[in-house]
Amino acid sequence: MFPRDFAWGAATSAYQIEGGWQADGKGPSIWDTFCHEKRGVHGGQNGDVSCNSYELWEKDLECIQQLGLTHYRLSLSWARLLPDGTTRNVNRRGVQYYNRVIDDLLACNVSPMVTLYHFDLPQAIQDLGGWKSPGVATLFDSYAKFCFQTFGDRVKLWITINEPHVCAKLGHEDGIHAPGLKEKGTAAYLVGHNMLRAHASAWHSYDSAYRATQKGAVSLALNSDWLEPLDPGCREDVESAERDLAFTLGWFAWPVFVTGDYPEIMRSAVETQSKALGYRGDFRLPTFSKDDPPILGTADFFALNNYTSRKVKSGGCGEQTLSMKRDLDAEELLDPSWPICGVSWLAVVPHGLRKLLKYIKDVFNNPAIYITENGFAQVGPLQTEDVERCNFYKSTILEVAKAIEEDGVDVRGYFAWSLMDNFEWADGFSVRFGLFHVDFSDAELRRTIYRSGREYAKIISEYKSRRLT
Ligand code: BGC
Repeated sequence: MFPRDFAWGAATSAYQIEGGWQADGKGPSIWDTFCHEKRGVHGGQNGDVSCNSYELWEKDLECIQQLGLTHYRLSLSWARLLPDGTTRNVNRRGVQYYNRVIDDLLACNVSPMVTLYHFDLPQAIQDLGGWKSPGVATLFDSYAKFCFQTFGDRVKLWITINEPHVCAKLGHEDGIHAPGLKEKGTAAYLVGHNMLRAHASAWHSYDSAYRATQKGAVSLALNSDWLEPLDPGCREDVESAERDLAFTLGWFAWPVFVTGDYPEIMRSAVETQSKALGYRGDFRLPTFSKDDPPILGTADFFALNNYTSRKVKSGGCGEQTLSMKRDLDAEELLDPSWPICGVSWLAVVPHGLRKLLKYIKDVFNNPAIYITENGFAQVGPLQTEDVERCNFYKSTILEVAKAIEEDGVDVRGYFAWSLMDNFEWADGFSVRFGLFHVDFSDAELRRTIYRSGREYAKIISEYKSRRLT
C-alpha cells in the first residue's frame, strides 16, 4: 500500500529534548527566557535538562534503531550553533554535536530530515525585535546558508521553519508560547509575514547555491487541523470552514503553493474587521514587496503536521476589539463522538487526516507530501501498555494508505510525533507524546519503549520486508 521508498520516521525538536541549555557555549533562546521567567509553563517547568539528548544522543539512536526508522526528523538549535544568532560567532562544539548526530544516523542507514527553526529563536535576536522585525529574514537566511554549507553534504531533506502559524499565533497573539506577546490582531500577521520572507530567502539561497551539488529538497512545515462545516447544508458554516482553513493552512500554503499572496478570503476578512473598527483596511495583513525574493514556488514538497479535526460554525466570537478571533469570525467545535486523548485539544479523528490530504492534493496542485508530525498524547497515570495509542497509529496509518491508494494523494512519508516523551511546551512534562517513555525522575533519564513503539516498529518492519520482495 505504501511506495517502496516511503519514509517511516519519528520527530523531535531541539528545545524539547536536548537540555544542555547553556552547555559548551550555547546562547539562550526565547524558550529559555520564557521558562526561566515563569511565564506560564505547567508547574514552572523548563527544558534545561529535558531528555538530555545533548549528552545522551547515543540512547536516542538506540531508540531510533529499535523502531527500525528509515528517517529521523530533528531540529537544530540556532542558539547552540550561533549563540548570538549571527554567523560572526560560530560555536564549534554545537557544530560537532550535530555532525555527530547526522553521521551516526547515516551510519545506521537512517536519513535525517532537519528543521532549522522549531520555536527557539536566539534571545539575542528577540532583543532586536524578534520575528516582528523585518531584519530577521536576513539573519535567518545567513543561519540557513551556514547550515546548508555545514551539513548539506549529508542532509537531503530540510524544513526551514516549523509551524509558522503556531509561532505567530501562540507566541504573539495568545502569549502562551515564547516570546509571550499578546498583541492581538496585529503582531501575528507581521510575524507570519516575516517567517514567510525568511523561509523564501533560505529556499532561494539553497536553490541558487546548494541544490546543484547537494541535491536536496527544502520546505516549511505547516500545521492544520482538518476543518469541516458543522452543518454542510448551511452556507455560513461552509464559508466559515473555508475561512478557517484559509487562516490556518492557507495563510502560509497559499503564498507558497498557489499565488504568491495570502488567500483572498483571509485578506478580505482582515480588511473588513479593520474597517469596522475604524482602521485602514490594509493596516494589518502586510503585502509582499517586490524587493523581497518571490514566495511562490518556494517549497520542494508539502510538509504537513496534523493532529486533529474540528467542526466549524459561523460567527459567535463576540470580540469587541481587534483580534485574530474576530477576523476569523467562526467557532470551532468538537464532535461529541470523537474520543479525546489526554489533552483537551486532541480529539482522535484519523479519517480527518485522509480528508486533509485529499484537500491538499486538490487545492495545492498535487504536491509530494510528507506528514512531518502526527501523534497521540497521554496524561495522568503512566500506561506503558498504551493500547489506545496503538490503535491510533494503526487506524491513522490505514487512513494514510487509503489517501494514497484510493484518493491518489502523493504521500512520501510519515513521521510520528514523537520519538520519546519530552518537554511539551506550555504543558511541560505533563503531556507525553513519546513512542518511548522517558523517566524524568531517573538520573539516567531511562528510555523505555511503549507498546505503541513496538507496534509502530512492527508496521515499519512489515513494509520494509515487502519492499524487498
Ligand atoms: C509541534 C511540536 C509539539 C506537538 C504536540 C506541534 O505543534 O511542532 O513541537 O510538541 O505539536 O503539541
